[in-house]
Amino acid sequence: MNDRQRETLRRLRAVVTGLLDAPGTESAFWADIVAFYRYVLTLDDDSLRLIRLHSTYWGGHGPMTYKEQHLEPPPHLTFLHERYARMVAKLDPRWYFAEPELKDCPFQYGALHDGRLINLDILRYQHAIANLVLTGVMAQVEQWSPGRRTVCEIGSGSGCFAFNLRRSLGDVALVLVDIPVSLFLTGAFLIVNDPEARLAIVDQDTPRGHLAELIASHDYILVADSMADRLLEGRYDLFFNLYSFQEMPSATVRRYLEIARLTTRGAFYSENLRGHAKNPENTDSIDDLIHDHLDAFPDPAFYQAQDVGDEVMRPIIGVGPLVGGSLSIRGELLLGYAGRVVTLRPPGS
Ligand SMILES: C[S@@+](CC[C@H](N)C(=O)[O-])C[C@H]1O[C@@H](n2cnc3c(N)ncnc32)[C@H](O)[C@@H]1O
Repeated sequence: MNDRQRETLRRLRAVVTGLLDAPGTESAFWADIVAFYRYVLTLDDDSLRLIRLHSTYWGGHGPMTYKEQHLEPPPHLTFLHERYARMVAKLDPRWYFAEPELKDCPFQYGALHDGRLINLDILRYQHAIANLVLTGVMAQVEQWSPGRRTVCEIGSGSGCFAFNLRRSLGDVALVLVDIPVSLFLTGAFLIVNDPEARLAIVDQDTPRGHLAELIASHDYILVADSMADRLLEGRYDLFFNLYSFQEMPSATVRRYLEIARLTTRGAFYSENLRGHAKNPENTDSIDDLIHDHLDAFPDPAFYQAQDVGDEVMRPIIGVGPLVGGSLSIRGELLLGYAGRVVTLRPPGS
């Protein structure tokens, strides 16, 4: 680890530690999880090369999932390889996502697929990006914003999705929002795995109005949930939320969607359940909340008509008023359920 990485880690630890007891916007469900994981802040710099092993709970699958000898027959691995192959089949390799290797570790968090390390998190991320590419949304966004792009991700968790997006998009600023302990996981992962990247952390001393400057000069900008209002200072080509709105209080989701509506000049992408069994603070269907704020596809009635059930993650692509016209969604949207991948075709495509 070089001096710059160590210095960025020092600052990240200090900012996150300072925020630990500030009022947050998370549900009781997440407050409990991060209370348990506060220990990550005490890990020393050298242990942080394995920081990814501390965020496996965020996706729900521990490292042993990928040890073939522990699975006889290995149903998860068969599923993983088949589904990943299906997700990348029609994509340019530029959009192939992968897990970075754990440094100096005798095992890896995933299984090799054509030389790429993949796992169930990568599969989810690949699903999301495949949907934006296959519906033609990425091409439109890239056309609108031919230079440096700006992406906002709410609930960045492990940081692995952001890491992959930067590799695919090239010149991009990623504004990443999470609650303090999770933000530490995001930041430490990116510092370790993307050592050349310029990473900024917004804190109470960051002057108001400064976000645009940070976006112009940094690759990753970390923002804690309690400072989410600062996001209003940016404009985003893509605004993401994967597997997190469902676990927040409805008021928090509304606030993020309002921010997305006011700041997104490209596409919004969500993949969530309508609600989450362990989170009673989400009192409104996520589908409905998204449709209250953005012009989105598919319609909530569409998922009901598909009879996919409430256990299925629903990809929803939205656009805000900043686009100045409807983003055209064509091609196909992949929805995985009951071990199958179903292709949804927007009307007219
Ligand atoms: C199930 S994890 C998913 C993480 C990541 N999006 C992924 O798909 O791997 C849910 C994420 O939402 C974050 N989260 C929970 N409450 C939040 C809030 N109020 N604001 C921002 N992020 C929040 C958690 O810290 C966690 O990173």
